[in-house]
Amino acid sequence: MAIKFLYSFIAAAVSTTAVLVNAKASAPLRFAGVNIAGFDFGCGTDGTCVASGAVPPIHKLSGIDGLGQMQHFVKDGYNVFRLPVGWQYLTNDKMTGVLDATQFAKYNTLVSDCLSTGAYCEIDIHNYARYNGQIIGQGGPSNKIFAELWSNIASHWKNETKVIFGVMNEPHDIPNITAWAASVQSAVTAIRKAGAKTQMILLPGTDYTSAKTFVSSGSADALAKVKNPDGTFTNLIMDVHRYLDYDGSGTNAECVTNGIDDSWTPLATWLRANGRKAFNTETGGGNVESCVKYVSQEIAYQASQSDVILGYIGWAAGSFATNYVLSQVPSYSGTGWNDTLLVSMAMSPKINKLIATVA
Ligand SMILES: *[C@@H]1O[C@H](CO)[C@@H](O)[C@H](O)[C@H]1NC(C)=O
Ligand SMILES: *[C@@H]1O[C@H](CO)[C@@H](O)[C@H](O)[C@H]1NC(C)=O
Ligand SMILES: *[C@@H]1O[C@H](CO)[C@@H](O)[C@H](O)[C@H]1NC(C)=O
Repeated sequence: MAIKFLYSFIAAAVSTTAVLVNAKASAPLRFAGVNIAGFDFGCGTDGTCVASGAVPPIHKLSGIDGLGQMQHFVKDGYNVFRLPVGWQYLTNDKMTGVLDATQFAKYNTLVSDCLSTGAYCEIDIHNYARYNGQIIGQGGPSNKIFAELWSNIASHWKNETKVIFGVMNEPHDIPNITAWAASVQSAVTAIRKAGAKTQMILLPGTDYTSAKTFVSSGSADALAKVKNPDGTFTNLIMDVHRYLDYDGSGTNAECVTNGIDDSWTPLATWLRANGRKAFNTETGGGNVESCVKYVSQEIAYQASQSDVILGYIGWAAGSFATNYVLSQVPSYSGTGWNDTLLVSMAMSPKINKLIATVA
């Protein structure tokens, strides 16, 4: 049933049959999600985040109804949300690993709202491997400070099996990838030693966690050495992003590729050869036909590789304006939620049937 539906859906969306050959619908994906952005607003790609720039997607804090959005998405079969936040927000603009109690409590309102839906919830530090322009462990905050930050976050959530720890959003222009892997290792060790022994931890490579250059950038080899304190790799998952616009930046409405040949196939090959898994925590495109077509192909292919790819998380809903170029913000009409074109035609598990929990 699901397979038949998938084929007819893809056939309708795609003019070529090539994808049908490549993307045999096999086992379903484990996760489909949406980024619920807002606590990261005010962050730049140089890791400069201004705490006061955050726009919490929390109705009680005079924001948009992020809880309502997540409840709506869960009804359609989504089962994970990524919750970006600036490091500076959590420490109230101090370069420290010590959390500001008031700020952390506000962010945790969103984490708790997310958990209340029954979904998995990813804590994502949205700092591009930096704090105010300086790279963690390479001129910026020490690995010790970074580890302290993660230790404090993880000790709060150590008993919550549905919290996922996203070590860092989109490192880029990292001078020494081996040194970066050591920073990631310090976070992993801190999370596990804080008592969060079993949860998933996402390991981010350079080039904005590019799925396309994950292997060629050296990220794969460097991150493959990051271990749990017991020497295993259990639940240490590679974090990858991919956008389908012409420059891969995720800033243009139109999509021009499904990313299969240049990104997903080589990535899956590496993962399989190395006994590892990856999670695509950002992908998406504009609310236009080209993105409906290419994103459908991309995620159907991921499903065909679900032995090594856990799932996808769309960018983005939360506090974005509904006319943001990559908006996945549903609008509330008074009687119900209305999804964007890309969500309703491609990314929603209700329509694509790519997720295990949706029959
Ligand atoms: C975690 O669970 C342990 C054992 O049940 C309990 O003692 C501890 O208070 C809990 N910690 C948190 C932060 O919830
Ligand atoms: C990169 O970092 C590693 C680990 O800190 C270090 O051993 C190595 O010498 C560094 N490489 C260069 C070229 O600086
Ligand atoms: C839902 O969105 C579509 C596309 O933007 C629009 O045409 C339709 O009127 C909306 N429906 C409701 C109930 O808001």
